[in-house]
Amino acid sequence: MTGQLSELESQLKTLQTEAQQAIATADTLDALEQLRIQYLGKKGQLSVVLKVMGKLDAGDRPRIGSLANQVKTALQDDLEQRRESLESAAIEARLASETLDVTMPGVYTPQGKLHPLTQTVDRALDIFMGLGYTVAQGPEMESDYYNFEALNTPDDHPARDMQDTFYLPDGNLLRTHTSSIQIRYMENNDPPIRVAAPGRVYRRDTVDATHSAVFHQLEILAVDKGLTFTDLKGTVKIFLKEMFGDLPIRFRPSFFPFTEPSAEVDVQWRGRWLEVLGCGMVDPNVLKAVGYDPEIYTGFAAGFGVERFAMVLHQLDDIRRLYNSDLRFLRQF
Ligand code: DAH
Repeated sequence: MTGQLSELESQLKTLQTEAQQAIATADTLDALEQLRIQYLGKKGQLSVVLKVMGKLDAGDRPRIGSLANQVKTALQDDLEQRRESLESAAIEARLASETLDVTMPGVYTPQGKLHPLTQTVDRALDIFMGLGYTVAQGPEMESDYYNFEALNTPDDHPARDMQDTFYLPDGNLLRTHTSSIQIRYMENNDPPIRVAAPGRVYRRDTVDATHSAVFHQLEILAVDKGLTFTDLKGTVKIFLKEMFGDLPIRFRPSFFPFTEPSAEVDVQWRGRWLEVLGCGMVDPNVLKAVGYDPEIYTGFAAGFGVERFAMVLHQLDDIRRLYNSDLRFLRQF
């Protein structure tokens, strides 16, 4: 064996050991690629060593050739293995960092909701807006004029006893119904009108399962040429059907000072008739009070009890639940 031959052999072995150590500790795929180029590339260290092969005796060449091939194959194997383990480590790391633990308890974010009474009013208003009505409001503190007088209910009128009123020290009162908004709206608008007016109303009632001193009404008013009781009836029927579906309803003759004729409407609920609204054709005196000519215009009006609607919609047994702010109750809506 010539000295040159053994020197080459040991160079190749050193190269293999060095390269294998470097490959084993390479910690990125980029670094690994650099090593491949450095050792096995066209101008890499293995080629440099093999260039000297030409100077060897022809008989020695195969020996070096095959050793060089072994080194090359060994390094290629190592590179390949290292590459696989780096790649799978990268996948492992990604999986670990993106793991979603579906058994982890959720983060509770309390969510606000609309009060069932507000939901009921909104639902009713939606229906009337669909029928072409606009929404109006009025003050809760009213004068005697808007609450009674202009609604054809003079001072000595017995109908005043129907509604036990909270009077204020200054002579004003807390409105006993949303009908006061009819007057205010007509004073500021010319016919034809279609208006829906929700609001809070007050009466000196003893509180029980179906009465409250503060409750809610929704008033509607339509004034136009040629409106008749049929229009009123059709409107009320369509509204109640949209609101409750196919519950049986009935119209009953009634009396209100501001309508003539007047009616009350009941829906059948839990086997009995429950009154949900009063209505009628606007009394000519009311039209006169706001300067409309009753010879030209007629109108119809209705006042709905919002609490009653909520009771039927949500199967409530006691309206006091609507005012107690008990979250166990309110969260159900
Ligand atoms: N304001 C009446 C009440 O509170 C209800 C009512 C009846 C309203 C007839 C109306 C109506 O608009 O036409 O009992």
